[in-house]
Order: sequence, then structure tokens, then C-alpha cells
Amino acid sequence: MDAPTYSSKQVAEMLGLPPKSIASALKQDSYTGAEVWALRAQLGAFPPSLGRRKQLFLNFKGGTGKTSLSTSYAWRLAELGYNVLIVDLDSQGHATKCLGFEGEDFDKTLLNVLVRKSPMSEVIQKSSLPNLHFVPSNLTMSTVDLALMPMAGREFKLRNALKEVEAQYDIIVFDAPPSFGLLNLNALMAANDLFVPVLADFLSFHGLKLLFETVQSLEEDLNHVLDHVFIVVNSFNATFKLAKEALEALQTHYPEYLLPTIIRQCTKFAQASSEGRPVFVADPGSKGATDIEALIQNVLPRLRAGSAPGTDDSGAQRAG
Ligand SMILES: Nc1ncnc2c1ncn2[C@@H]1O[C@H](COP(=O)(O)OP(=O)(O)OP(=O)(O)O)[C@@H](O)[C@H]1O
Ligand SMILES: [Mg+2]
Repeated sequence: MDAPTYSSKQVAEMLGLPPKSIASALKQDSYTGAEVWALRAQLGAFPPSLGRRKQLFLNFKGGTGKTSLSTSYAWRLAELGYNVLIVDLDSQGHATKCLGFEGEDFDKTLLNVLVRKSPMSEVIQKSSLPNLHFVPSNLTMSTVDLALMPMAGREFKLRNALKEVEAQYDIIVFDAPPSFGLLNLNALMAANDLFVPVLADFLSFHGLKLLFETVQSLEEDLNHVLDHVFIVVNSFNATFKLAKEALEALQTHYPEYLLPTIIRQCTKFAQASSEGRPVFVADPGSKGATDIEALIQNVLPRLRAGSAPGTDDSGAQRAG
């Protein structure tokens, strides 16, 4: 993927400043991610702290939008000035692909960290935004559940491995595979917040029951309580009667978890992921990008209002 560039209007938006107030600083026709970051540092335009959060996108059902939503959410948070790490947990390597990379090009994945004790810092890669890093995945990750099985403290491997690097990031986003196993249990144990992308159909609706039972047993048996659980309806098409009925069922049964912002069905969104480009790069004006932005604006105040799991309150300041 070519490195993204931004117009001065987009830069002002990303910095969270009125365009007029920084007109004198914005002299170029376009800006690279690194130039936006330099300008942010120069103007001290860092976003308010969210505490240091780890956020998991999980649904045991396949194809509900975990990868599309997690990568575009993480990408946009980085554009808004947060230091973000995406951890690709899926041996399909789709999150890696959505960022414009091929998983097979990397020698090391999270498997090396969880099973072979490589330091986390050795597997972290740089993306085309200076403040967005990622842990790639490829087919070798498909053996991770089996390899974890005989290990002592096997549910806590990911949480412990992240300790080395977590102070460098405002947000760590995990893209989970559609399975029910030790790796996803590790991700749940490492996470502060859970995003559950669902499609507005009744199969997705029934799958939620298993997920919520798992979360409940985590609280009871492993003493891990999530700060936030957000259900996100994805790929919604209001012209389908069944979709509207499924949405109503979600509103009835999960009112406390269901986010009011819905991600509409969007061909450009699907096309962007297949081309390995975040939707905010491929088409920032698309329904997909608009809806993810709305989701972020809905979620950020809730995260800021909640208790901060991390310790640092000074906001995002680094990139490397
Ligand atoms: N809002 C949307 N509008 C249109 N297509 C979408 C939308 N969200 C996701 N898709 C498409 O649906 C398919 C599944 O999405 P995605 O890969 O994000 O789901 P997933 O839950 O990560 O899948 P898996 O369970 O295989 O990991 C992809 O082809 C993606 O491009
Ligand atoms: Mg996926």
C-alpha cells in the first residue's frame, strides 16, 4: 500500500483544531502521516488520555466484521493521534492484510512470543502511520492453541507478554479469529474492553448467548471483569425486513451493551479490505468510514469517563 497523504482540511480534523486557527502552519498541498505527526508534536495537539486500554474484537461466529471494524477503528484512532498497536491473532492474517502487508512475509508472529518466548518487541512491526504498530499473523499461528495446551498459566500468556510494551501504547487492539479456544481466552484475559461485531441476522443473535456465557464464566472462574462490552451491528441494510427485526431483538435483549451507532453495509468498505487498504485511506467519505468515525465519537467519551486501567494520564505523546 502506498503511504497515505492528507489534505490540510483532513490534517486540521485529525489534529482536532479549527482549520482557520492553524492556517498559517498548513502550507503544503498534502501531508504524509509522518508530517502530520511532526505537526502534532509541534502544536502539542495530542488527544485526551483514555487510560491505557486493551480492546478485543471478538465473535465466535465467522464473517461478522471483526477484522474490518478492528483495523479501521485502530487506524482512525492513530489518525486522531493515539499510539496504537494492532495484534493480529488470526492465522488467516486478515488484519495484517488490511494494513497492506502479507502475513507470510514475516518470520515471526505472536506464536513466537507466546510459545517460544521471543520478546514482544521483536515481533512488532511499523505500519505506514508512525504511531500505528502491528503484530503480524500468518498460517503458523494456527498451531498456537495446541502449543498452549500443556503450558502452566496458559490463559495468561498474552497478558504477561504485553507487559513489556504496553506503556508505549494508548490502545492495543486485538483482532480475534472466529473460534473458541485458548488463544481467544488469552485475548479475553488480556482485554479491558470487548467489542462484539454482529450481523443483523438471527444466527448472529443466537451466537451471542455463548459469548456472554463465556464472559460470565471468565468473571466467575478466572476473576477477570471487563470494563466495557459493546455490541456493534455491522453491515446493516435497512431495506431488509429481517435485518430490522434482528436489530429490534438485539435492542430488546441486550440494551445495555448495544451501541447506538450502526455500521451500514458498504461496498467500498469491503473493497478496501480486499485491496489491503484501510477504508479511511481508500475512501474517507464512504458510509463505512463515516460510521466507524461515529462509533469512535460515541465510544471515546464512555472510555474517558470510565476508570482508567492504565496509569499514565498525560495523553498520547510518543511515536516510533
Ligand atoms: N460494513 C460492511 N459492509 C460491507 N461488507 C462488509 C462490511 N463489514 C465487513 N464486510 C465484508 O464482510 C466480509 C467479512 O468481514 P471481516 O473479514 O471483517 O469479518 P471477520 O469477522 O473478521 O471474519 P473472520 O471470522 O473470518 O475473521 C469481508 O469480505 C468484508 O469485506
Ligand atoms: Mg477476521
